[in-house]
Amino acid sequence: MASEAAPSCHLVFCLLISAVVLRPGLGRYTVNSAYGDTIVMPCRLDVPQNLMFGKWKYEKPDGSPVFIAFRSSTKKSVQYDDVPEYKDRLSLSEDYTLSISNARISDEKRFVCMLVTEDDVLEAPTVVKVFKQPSKPEIVRKAPFLETEQLKQLGDCISKDSYPYGNITWYRNGRVLQDLEGVVNISFNKEMDPVTQLYTMTSSLEYKATKADIQMPFTCSVAYYGPSGQNTVYSEQAVFDIYYPTEQVTIQVLPPKNAIKEGDNITLKCLGNGNPPPEEFLFYLPGQPEGIRSSSAYTLTDVRRNATGDYKCSLIDKRSMIASAAVTVHYLDLSLNPRGEITKQIGDALPVSCTISASGNATVVWMKDNIRLRSSPSFSSLRYQDAGNYVCETALREVEGLKKRESLTLVVEGKPQIKMTKKTDPSGLSKTITCHVEGFPKPAIQWTITGSGSVINQLPYTLFSVEPVEDSLGAPRGAI
Ligand SMILES: *[C@@H]1O[C@H](CO)[C@@H](O)[C@H](O)[C@H]1NC(C)=O
Ligand SMILES: *[C@@H]1O[C@H](CO)[C@@H](O)[C@H](O)[C@H]1NC(C)=O
Ligand SMILES: *[C@@H]1O[C@H](CO)[C@@H](O)[C@H](O)[C@H]1NC(C)=O
Ligand SMILES: *[C@@H]1O[C@H](CO)[C@@H](O)[C@H](O)[C@H]1NC(C)=O
Ligand SMILES: *[C@@H]1O[C@H](CO)[C@@H](O)[C@H](O)[C@H]1NC(C)=O
Repeated sequence: MASEAAPSCHLVFCLLISAVVLRPGLGRYTVNSAYGDTIVMPCRLDVPQNLMFGKWKYEKPDGSPVFIAFRSSTKKSVQYDDVPEYKDRLSLSEDYTLSISNARISDEKRFVCMLVTEDDVLEAPTVVKVFKQPSKPEIVRKAPFLETEQLKQLGDCISKDSYPYGNITWYRNGRVLQDLEGVVNISFNKEMDPVTQLYTMTSSLEYKATKADIQMPFTCSVAYYGPSGQNTVYSEQAVFDIYYPTEQVTIQVLPPKNAIKEGDNITLKCLGNGNPPPEEFLFYLPGQPEGIRSSSAYTLTDVRRNATGDYKCSLIDKRSMIASAAVTVHYLDLSLNPRGEITKQIGDALPVSCTISASGNATVVWMKDNIRLRSSPSFSSLRYQDAGNYVCETALREVEGLKKRESLTLVVEGKPQIKMTKKTDPSGLSKTITCHVEGFPKPAIQWTITGSGSVINQLPYTLFSVEPVEDSLGAPRGAI
């Protein structure tokens, strides 16, 4: 039994005492609970022998009590007060431990366990803290691309349903990003759901990219407090396409510019090193100050030598960004004089010229009947053996495949010339008469016996054999 001096006090007086004794930090007892879990609050008082009943209450912000649960020690019965917030969520055990299922933010209160005897009221408060881990942060409203030299919205980092609210941090390649005038602008915002009292945190990042941000991962994190302390969760990485302007324009010529010849098609290709690369350019043809707007390839078909010159291309919106290429259209002209089929008389003079005009060093080769000649032909007095098929062929050293050829077929004509020789056989029994005839076209040969007028080789019997043999000059010979 408690003495007169024991705290057998009036209820209001007792509340005052406990308010003083249990100042925050001094004997304050806190239960940390995860959102949705069951909050378990032991009574924290020794149960007296003569206990009548135990009660739990909580305190409203203004300090007024709201009773929620009652357990009679004598009748062993439990009653829960009609408080809508706690309907079906309470359980008061025999040792006066109060359990509240499905913890909510609104359960963050000071609860008090009261044990009442006939002459005493004992109280022990417990403060409830509820924590809700926020969702993994996500980078949303992502920019489709970033641009150098421009402060642009990169994205929002969003983390939902947190209690208490957490802090969002942005990282570039693992390093924390901090506000920097004109380069980094981070703005944080939190919103509380009025029903659940959970916070959704959003952090918007505006960022001015440079080329160094190509392939750089951006992440964000949320730091939050949980029942057992501070934690951090990180988002997935986000990588952005970085747009940057063209700093250099290049021009390519196809086919390779030292192998272009007349009749070719030339394709000019223009490239800019920006991202994305420019799609259109201005092409400038030699001697034309006005550019022609075209996609990155411009083709000239069947070019002639007058297409030789400087070709340029520039950006459309920045004409000082320009590139040029010198193009030479190689050509090779050959003029053979005379050419074709020519008939000349023996002894005639025939000057022959093969004139070359070319864009480079040309080689000249002469052939007669497919045999290479040492020098170019020229005739002061034509002979039968000069007849034949002459070809003047030229090629340009610089350009493979650039060749020209012309031909001259020379025919040398002459009246037949007869030369007779006699030779006595060493036996003295016979004589050989040789008739040598030169002429072109091929002369016909007849032997006749002088005086008789008869044609020997038309006789029915032949004493002599006549064998005309054509030599290389086409001059037939007869022998008896
Ligand atoms: C930073 O972002 C906030 C919110 O988007 C905006 O109001 C503010 O003007 C921005 N500051 C700068 C320097 O751009
Ligand atoms: C959030 O930032 C504030 C101010 O810097 C700090 O007091 C608080 O502890 C931070 N919260 C977390 C969860 O880190
Ligand atoms: C040039 O292009 C035309 C069509 O544009 C084509 O008919 C011709 O064969 C090409 N010439 C060469 C040498 O490729
Ligand atoms: C080049 O010469 C050809 C004839 O060989 C002519 O048709 C063409 O117009 C000329 N082009 C230029 C650009 O002078
Ligand atoms: C012709 O060849 C000579 C030497 O072989 C060289 O010096 C010259 O530059 C060439 N000319 C052309 C037009 O290529």
